[in-house]
Amino acid sequence: MFQFREEFECYLAKYLDKLPTVPLLKEAMEYSVLDGGKRIRPLLTFAGGQLSGANNQTLLPIAAAIEMIHCYSLVHDDLPAMDDDDFRRGKPSNHKAYDEATAILVGDALLTEAFALLAHNHNFTAETKVELLKILSTASGALGMIKGQFLDMHAEQKPVTLEELEEIHNNKTGALIKASIMMGYIAGPNQSQESLQSLSTFAQKVGLMFQIQDDILDATSSSEILGKSAGKDAEQEKATYVNLLGIETAQEYMQKLNTEALALLTPFQTHADPLKALTLYVIERQN
Ligand code: IPE
Ligand code: IPE
Ligand code: MG
Ligand code: MG
Ligand code: MG
Repeated sequence: MFQFREEFECYLAKYLDKLPTVPLLKEAMEYSVLDGGKRIRPLLTFAGGQLSGANNQTLLPIAAAIEMIHCYSLVHDDLPAMDDDDFRRGKPSNHKAYDEATAILVGDALLTEAFALLAHNHNFTAETKVELLKILSTASGALGMIKGQFLDMHAEQKPVTLEELEEIHNNKTGALIKASIMMGYIAGPNQSQESLQSLSTFAQKVGLMFQIQDDILDATSSSEILGKSAGKDAEQEKATYVNLLGIETAQEYMQKLNTEALALLTPFQTHADPLKALTLYVIERQN
């Protein structure tokens, strides 16, 4: 997994470096991509790929495309019209380091280039490529992340039910996390319909756990540790698990999801070890 992470950083840096675009735009894109994110989604892609015997050369472009979409979502999430956050990954947000127009365009560029990266890649069969593009577009667009972000913005200062909150979280964060695992899996040769089903249920639970922990950290940690402004959710009266259930019950719910999720990995035996380690990291991480 560590080796993959290193390969991933090189792959992504090289890809951006080679983009024949305006130097300042490229610089602003690199500012928000090559800047010490945890890279949890790329690692989940790697872990998903281990279940079906995918090789790293196939997984790298998938992981890079997903991380570019994730980074774009952070740049836009921080904009004044969205969460209005001045800090991200321990430094000024993109619109603070540059300006709002640049941040909007950086997001647009990263989103588009993510699809271009996959479309131009030669490591996949045409059939797999189309399948990957379908999963990624569904997870990031109006049926996934954007739907979640929209619902999130519209739930500010409003009472929401647990069911509504789950829908927000499953979409704004869960959809891309789930896609990270599933895209890794479908890139490998040893797939089965049955495994695809249980992995899909597993991946959905991991996505939800990820955002519950994000909510908990926002309420309990510091800006120094998080590298982004803590306490923002309460300030903006966001719909969160902490808000709705309280910290302790939110933690218990996450543990329940974790137990259910891990049980789904049993049939994969030791191939699922990286995925198990990452699941543990998702709920125990401190930033
Ligand atoms: C933060 O994601 C935004 C959410 C979807 C909750 P990460 O916690 O993965 O952020 P980075 O990539 O490590 O900065
Ligand atoms: C962001 O959720 C989800 C996406 C960027 C799609 P948050 O707004 O909770 O993320 P942070 O806390 O700012 O990282
Ligand atoms: Mg947000
Ligand atoms: Mg935010
Ligand atoms: Mg948050």
